[in-house]
Amino acid sequence: MSTPKLLGLSGSLRSGSFNTMLLKAAMTSFGEADTTIGDLELPLYDGDLEAEGIPAKVSKLAEQIAAADAIIIANPEYNKGISGVLKNALDWVSRTPGSAFRGKPTLVIGAAAGRTGGETSYYMTRNCLAPLGAAVLATPAVLIAAVHTEFNEDGTLKSERYQEGLDAAVATLRTVSESR
Ligand SMILES: Cc1cc2nc3c(=O)[nH]c(=O)nc-3n(C[C@H](O)[C@H](O)[C@H](O)COP(=O)(O)O)c2cc1C
Repeated sequence: MSTPKLLGLSGSLRSGSFNTMLLKAAMTSFGEADTTIGDLELPLYDGDLEAEGIPAKVSKLAEQIAAADAIIIANPEYNKGISGVLKNALDWVSRTPGSAFRGKPTLVIGAAAGRTGGETSYYMTRNCLAPLGAAVLATPAVLIAAVHTEFNEDGTLKSERYQEGLDAAVATLRTVSESR
């Protein structure tokens, strides 16, 4: 098989984001791949803006999703919900032609400050991906709790248990994407 295309999306825009760190750790674990991290810094969805034409950044993101063999989404939890950044991106992509997410092997992971690692956001993210037709993997959830204590300076995970869970989930994503 040719080198798989792996797309990563982080629901947090901040430069020091633990979810982006987790995403990068997951993308490293995936192994050899043509990797891209999508840019979710998009205008807020607005039907009037859409009527003027899909913004170029949204079209680019939809093209990256459509081209991907596998997708990893790392999402924080904000007030027990999905981040607005990710939801906005999903809403925009849903308005582009071609059902970019349909059938795409997609792994959802997350990191949050609280005790559950953002479990409520995790299930909400899965729900939000359902109407887009993404093939969201049913691996055991990889959710990093108390995230401020869980990363080394270099962005790697401190806990072997978390790393093993991440490796197992990502390996499943690779296997599923290769069997398509
Ligand atoms: C607006 C807001 C709401 C938050 N709500 C939750 C929450 O419901 N559960 C939780 O575990 N952490 C919550 N947090 C803390 C985040 O988990 C923490 O800031 C985390 O580091 C955000 O992800 P990031 O590092 O990728 O930006 C919240 C943070 C913000 C800014």
